[in-house]
Amino acid sequence: MKRFLLALTTFALVAGAVEAKTANEEQEAIKFANNIIKKMTLREKFGQLEQFVTRKGVVTGPEGVKRDIESAIRNGEVGSFLSIRKPEEALRLQKMSVEESRLGIPLIFGYDIIHGCKVIFPENLAMACSWNLEAVERAARVAAEESVAAGIHWTFSPMCDISVDPRWSRVSEGAGEDPYLGAKIAAAMVRGYQGDDLSSDKTIAACVKHFAAYGAAQAGRDYNTVDMSELMFRNLYLPPYKAALDAGAVTVMSSFNDFHGVPASGNKWLLYDLLRKELGFKGFVVSDWNAVHEMIIHGVAANGKDAAELALKAHLNMDMVGGDYIAYGEQLVKEGRISEKLVDELVREVLVIKYRLGLFEDPYRYGSQKQEGAYYRPEHLAFARNVAAESMVLLKNNGVLPLQKGVKIALIGPFADSQIDQLGAWRGLGEKEHSITIRTALEERFGKENVLYTKACECGRYKNGLIEGGIEEAVKIAEQSDVILLSMGLSGWHSGESRSRAEITVPADQQQLLDALKKTGKKIVVLLATGRAMDIRNEVEKSDAVLLTWHGGTMEGPAVADLVSGDKNPSGHLTMSFPYHVGQIPVHYNSKNTGRPAKSQFKAQGYSASYVDMQNAPLFPFGYGLSYSEFEYSDLKVLTPTVELGGVVKVSVKVTNKGKYDGDDVAQLYVHDIVAETTRPVRELKGFERLSLKAGESKVVTFEVPTSDLAYCHQDMSWKADKGDFKVWVGADSYATLEGRFTIK
Ligand code: NOJ
Repeated sequence: MKRFLLALTTFALVAGAVEAKTANEEQEAIKFANNIIKKMTLREKFGQLEQFVTRKGVVTGPEGVKRDIESAIRNGEVGSFLSIRKPEEALRLQKMSVEESRLGIPLIFGYDIIHGCKVIFPENLAMACSWNLEAVERAARVAAEESVAAGIHWTFSPMCDISVDPRWSRVSEGAGEDPYLGAKIAAAMVRGYQGDDLSSDKTIAACVKHFAAYGAAQAGRDYNTVDMSELMFRNLYLPPYKAALDAGAVTVMSSFNDFHGVPASGNKWLLYDLLRKELGFKGFVVSDWNAVHEMIIHGVAANGKDAAELALKAHLNMDMVGGDYIAYGEQLVKEGRISEKLVDELVREVLVIKYRLGLFEDPYRYGSQKQEGAYYRPEHLAFARNVAAESMVLLKNNGVLPLQKGVKIALIGPFADSQIDQLGAWRGLGEKEHSITIRTALEERFGKENVLYTKACECGRYKNGLIEGGIEEAVKIAEQSDVILLSMGLSGWHSGESRSRAEITVPADQQQLLDALKKTGKKIVVLLATGRAMDIRNEVEKSDAVLLTWHGGTMEGPAVADLVSGDKNPSGHLTMSFPYHVGQIPVHYNSKNTGRPAKSQFKAQGYSASYVDMQNAPLFPFGYGLSYSEFEYSDLKVLTPTVELGGVVKVSVKVTNKGKYDGDDVAQLYVHDIVAETTRPVRELKGFERLSLKAGESKVVTFEVPTSDLAYCHQDMSWKADKGDFKVWVGADSYATLEGRFTIK
């Protein structure tokens, strides 16, 4: 009898869902959710607000409590799981929830699909350096398609955190230091994941994280406290989150940090006043891992019950793994500390997204595709190879690259043949066996007999340091070769969550290896593996070329081979300044003038905003990147010397490829608001265009900047552009020298 009733309930929900697909989707979804809510017990409601894991491997901190997951599902005490790696397992749990729980509400499965699911793309900071929004969007779509096949409904991405501190290991997950570019990338990723139909079998739900200002963790220590003015927050940190929301992202993750003294997961100003009322967000918010419970340790809640109350009152819908909602939610309502109306709202927002994903219509649709055909498709791998090549940044080249035909290569270093490291952090469901390493790709491109390889050194989580005899072997093969390619830097393990570093130089043993190789007198090309900006003064000085290869993903090797051989021309440009020294941090291009700016950014000096022992300028600025060609910028014309507020500023510039190679460059437009109500950055990116130019070819690029893009936060927190004079520059990095002026009237 019970079974029959269950089946009936499920059928009723499914039938309702099919009908609801017509007419106004949102209204229908709300109606649908309300109907379910009417049937739910209070415990089942809190169940929808709980997200659990089934595996033991705790990656982000102790959440402690052991649960019998299966009875929790059958009792309707869980609404979501994260990090389920196997589609069969997702299917098993989904069946349990749909067919064995009283109301048959489907589960939603979330996963960290950050830069690829099976095909792994370069880490996000790297991908941003392509300045290729179409590619970023398509990479997210590829990830979504593979996720659907793997039974995943929802990714915890894009990470929209601006950061100016490369000691913080999570810079690898974001787009870098600039709010304008960060906003464009965040929106592109949301479009890629979600498309225009959440229920399509090619899309998944996105999650805007980490709300908010997580990237400003003090001293670059992950999870650390954040404190900044609201003005700074609105100007520099909010734009990417907002852009992702405007692009339609349906979920948000609250961050670990406190903000203005209140942990984000209990911060009503952030999660309700700003996010819902001001920004109009209608989806649901999930906490970061155990972040509700951690409010006890932050010192704003005495126990789990208080923590749950704070989070619920802040309008945080879903508790990731902590368990305090299901443990204390009912009591909080019964004691009158939380109203059932609020609980219903929180539940409704979750159910609406499940509905929009099509989960009520067919809870088994995800993960039921033929996985073999969906994963690692050749066209996706070819695309990933191209994205990796466009993400790599040539930082130095004294003419050694591209390599001559028939050259004999000594390939040395810890990452040259490491399938795992090139995948970086948060490698989704990517399997290292599919990675093509630099060694494999170079052997194929240049011939096995022309590539001598040795690792020489270890670098990673478990093993570090020189291998016995490593230097000797490296020197030996270098002497038998024409050129040394040295793959050095930091491992995949050094990127992502919880890998903050006080030192951002290349580990000492690898420097020792470089010194030994330098003595051979052979040309040295450094292939820099990293997920963060680093102080690489030493490597730049001692080498002939530096190619920033990042953790380039599944197809890193072929991308490196494409670039060093000259089959492709490097075109990446930095989206995070590379400091000259760790002591300069935060170092970023969009700093303020102050009343006493340094006379030179390149010299130590006193009585100005500078150091007496070091330059202010980074080693490589935001926007920087070389090519095998030389691009000349000329004829800057401000086509609209005066423009009405609300109008569009137009600026054109001629770009000429003066080199011997065809190539791509990223033309960048910067502005400075000369007199404003509050102090403005010395430069702000307000436009960019990736362009392809044949050797010898010229193109005129016209930028169109709506004056609304020149808006900023005023003293009363209003966001608007002002009338007045502006400087404008266009060039290939944030040091662009071609200058013009315009006035907003
Ligand atoms: C903690 C991380 O901060 C967050 O980015 C991630 O999505 C969650 N854990 C889930 O793995």
